[in-house]
Amino acid sequence: MNASPVTRIDKDMENDKFWQYPKLPILWVATLAMMVIQKTGLVKIIWRTVAKNLPAVSEVAKKAKTSRALDIIYDYERKPLPELKIPSLKSWRKFIVETVMRFLFEIRHCQGARNRLKIVKWLIGKEGRRIPLEKTWKLLVIACGSSRASLEAVAERKKIGGQSTVILVDKSPRALAKAMALATSLGIADMVVAIRGDAMKIADLVKDFQPDTVEAVGLTDYLTDKDTIALINAINGLLVEGGKLITGNIAPNTEKPFVKIVFCWSMIYRTLTELRRIALASKFPQHGIEIFTEPLGMFYLLVLSK
Ligand SMILES: C[S@@+](CC[C@H](N)C(=O)[O-])C[C@H]1O[C@@H](n2cnc3c(N)ncnc32)[C@H](O)[C@@H]1O
Repeated sequence: MNASPVTRIDKDMENDKFWQYPKLPILWVATLAMMVIQKTGLVKIIWRTVAKNLPAVSEVAKKAKTSRALDIIYDYERKPLPELKIPSLKSWRKFIVETVMRFLFEIRHCQGARNRLKIVKWLIGKEGRRIPLEKTWKLLVIACGSSRASLEAVAERKKIGGQSTVILVDKSPRALAKAMALATSLGIADMVVAIRGDAMKIADLVKDFQPDTVEAVGLTDYLTDKDTIALINAINGLLVEGGKLITGNIAPNTEKPFVKIVFCWSMIYRTLTELRRIALASKFPQHGIEIFTEPLGMFYLLVLSK
């Protein structure tokens, strides 16, 4: 098998490993506790308490697999810990809420997701600069969610006088509405078309559109190997010669049971070998395979050149 090298991107990445090891036993205990609680009536009471005190956590668990859950993780920012005033219950509550928020939104899964977004922004940004300014950059974003990386790259290109045509595809009207709102706020809505549909029917959805670049990140984590290869091959059929597909997958890691049981977020985790095997089984040439990762090793990004 061609051992396509993996490039680790470290610059500007979150890489707080120090607390992750002491955290692990707590995550596993929470996972076991949740497995037991799920069999009792207590589960509703617990989620009601979480919804009241930690609405962001409750929403991630309710909207796992959707772009809403990812947006909450992307938008998380560490706040200063509130001052503890010993007799004040309110100050204790605020302190505990902020501590739990830090604990959960800074697990490697969340840090890795934010790192992945930064790498996608960098990769798409490079694409926006690769296509000559006198040509219209054709970009297709599949399972776009809020489509931050691609839309920001299009806005950057516009600033230097470049035209783009973007097609956004998602099965969720909410995700498409969010992406269009972002396009409007970036002043590029006239360059963007949103199509609601199933990624597995991409060739029918976009007809004769021949993109220079396709972004499909956060989708293969929910697809079998067979469907992933079928999707990659369909994208290969659409891309212009020399065009690029940016995709990727979550990597196996010790937080998987917690993310699955507590965040109710099931995914297909793939090793580097499994990801390479998929790339090699596709119609993309071997020499066009590049793999990137972030410092925590939670996510791989796969770039395939036609
Ligand atoms: C985890 S989010 C990823 C969003 C975005 N690409 C990102 O990386 O932030 C997955 C998105 O894929 C969409 N999706 C899942 N399966 C799909 C399918 N078969 N066809 C089209 N969209 C799909 C969901 O609606 C959701 O917006």
